[in-house]
Amino acid sequence: MILQDIFDKLWKGYVAQNPEAEKIYSCFTEAGEKVENDHIAFRTFFDTRINVDVLARPFLEAGYEQKGYYIFDDKHLTAKHYEHKTISNAPRVFISQLMTDHFSPKLQSIVKQCASRVPEELVIGNELIFAGNVWGPPSYETYEMLRKESEYAAWLYVYGFVTNHFTVSINSLNNLNSIQKVNQFLKEKGFMLNSSGGEIKGTPEELLEQSSTKAGILSVEFAEGSFDIPSCYYEFAIRYPDTDGKLYSGFIAKSADKIFESTDFYKK
Ligand code: NI
Repeated sequence: MILQDIFDKLWKGYVAQNPEAEKIYSCFTEAGEKVENDHIAFRTFFDTRINVDVLARPFLEAGYEQKGYYIFDDKHLTAKHYEHKTISNAPRVFISQLMTDHFSPKLQSIVKQCASRVPEELVIGNELIFAGNVWGPPSYETYEMLRKESEYAAWLYVYGFVTNHFTVSINSLNNLNSIQKVNQFLKEKGFMLNSSGGEIKGTPEELLEQSSTKAGILSVEFAEGSFDIPSCYYEFAIRYPDTDGKLYSGFIAKSADKIFESTDFYKK
């Protein structure tokens, strides 16, 4: 699959679950801005059938290579990030996985059941990133149970393989050229920002500043009926040049740690 097709397909699936992102995108374009993506992100469980490396396949095939490796101790996650070898403005791809063996036997058995329901063609093929929830209709009771241990697990249990967030590259914007201006712009338009750890994560000294919306609330069909729960969010990032004059290209674990909380459960 060619790169543009991959991202177009992912964007379609993402805005279907997060209509707010499309509204924000329109706000930027109506303000005369051209939106480019800094990165997109996926979540998965650490299980050989569906781990980071399985999700990364279509990107590797489209010319990406692995760059960074990250460990998030508090959230029990590891992650890798990928960049395109030749297309310098292709979005980075960030894929994290929950280290399920750090959790209760109950959580582990739910994840094992889920992973065993993933069709073989997705395990061996390149299409897992588009597959959505492949484990079948969720149970609200299970969702609630997972949430007590890990919001990340609960989110993944419901939504499966969709882009968790797209990220606007503030470096590519003309007038809204600082994260403060972007945040102000979003708040004036009525969007809610994730304020866990402050609205802005990271500092110019760390060479990366990020902010994000709170995940939109989506009505999801569970076995027990429909419930409103958080879905995906939209992120905004600005990068600063390193001592070599090139824009920093990695991720800051302690900032990302807080950004993961953008999908935490909250009441509207
Ligand atoms: Ni991100």
